[in-house]
Amino acid sequence: QKLKISLDQIEKGGYDHFMLKEIHEQPKAIIDTYRGRMLPDEGIIRMSGIDNHMNKFLNAERIIIVACGTSWHAGLVGEYLIEDKARIPVEVEYASEFRYRNPIITSKDVVIAISQSGETADTLAAIKLAKSKGAFVFGICNVVGSSIARETDAGAYTHAGPEIGVASTKAFTTQITVLTLIALKLASKKGEISKSELRTFLQKMQLIPKKVEDLLKIDEKVKEIAAVYKDAPNCLYLGRGFNFPVALEGALKLKEISYIHAEGYPAAEMKHGPIALIDENMPIFVIATNKGHYEKVVSNIQEIKSRAGKIIAIVTEGDTQVKDIADHVIEIPETEEALTPLLTTIPFQLLSYHIAVMLNKNVDQPRNLAKSVTVE
Ligand code: AGP
Repeated sequence: QKLKISLDQIEKGGYDHFMLKEIHEQPKAIIDTYRGRMLPDEGIIRMSGIDNHMNKFLNAERIIIVACGTSWHAGLVGEYLIEDKARIPVEVEYASEFRYRNPIITSKDVVIAISQSGETADTLAAIKLAKSKGAFVFGICNVVGSSIARETDAGAYTHAGPEIGVASTKAFTTQITVLTLIALKLASKKGEISKSELRTFLQKMQLIPKKVEDLLKIDEKVKEIAAVYKDAPNCLYLGRGFNFPVALEGALKLKEISYIHAEGYPAAEMKHGPIALIDENMPIFVIATNKGHYEKVVSNIQEIKSRAGKIIAIVTEGDTQVKDIADHVIEIPETEEALTPLLTTIPFQLLSYHIAVMLNKNVDQPRNLAKSVTVE
């Protein structure tokens, strides 16, 4: 019998779709991103783009993060990280709004532009505007030598490798990896965290790729959950703190590849409107990690249950409280709360992927979307 393998199959490395391949590449992509930059046992982070311009960051009155889509969600995680760890004020802006709203930018601002492709027109225009006002612009890009990488004053590559699937996956986790390193580096330089705290944090970060790898083994379970909810017309995603942006990202992933309407919300905002949507037909994906405002999220879950909503919860290994009330739980391994976005996002990626496959959608090239949005 002749062995017939197409070029396409080889490129997908044995996976059915690029998206699934890229989801599974995340443990390696995260390692490639921090390799050579962090020395956990010594408590050292080396990033030449930051080291060479340290004064710009230390004297910055604020950091403005500009990006679009998934990169914007990574930027939001960055805001939580940089403010929490380094105590520098951060604002996160949609590049498309920033460029046209006549923003106040001065030479005391540091702008961080995040883009997988490095070609997004709105992000590029936001960079040009910030530069024209005298701000120092730092880029976080994946594509080496891209327009954004060239246009920025300094930067750090994500080293995720080529991302072909239109739905961004490994770009997101590697962007968060870079932002975590930046936050910790600035925190340590400013004396906000001690050498031993930095060492402990980095040692925990070094364990993340293995944890992602373990988490990817829950694929079958996620598939079962996907089969239950694949025909839902609407879904809600809730999270708090570091995981609020992950809720937004989970909803975006589902929307773009399965065409199911989904919304992400900070869990506590539910009572200000979205709660009216809840009935027995509404699946709600809730991130309830053990340290992230856990008790408050549990009470949100109880409110949803009392209105007959279906709960799919992401909890920390060993959780018992949420397990008793949720319809389905997915466990993530224990880690620092600030590192949980790198784990909680994985089940959401897999879930969107499986739902889209079950609905026969074009996973890698969803309708109406392009990998790089080079037009306004
Ligand atoms: C993500 O799944 C999307 N396809 C999209 O939101 C994307 O993140 C956005 O267009 C920004 O792209 P960039 O990171 O290449 O700038």
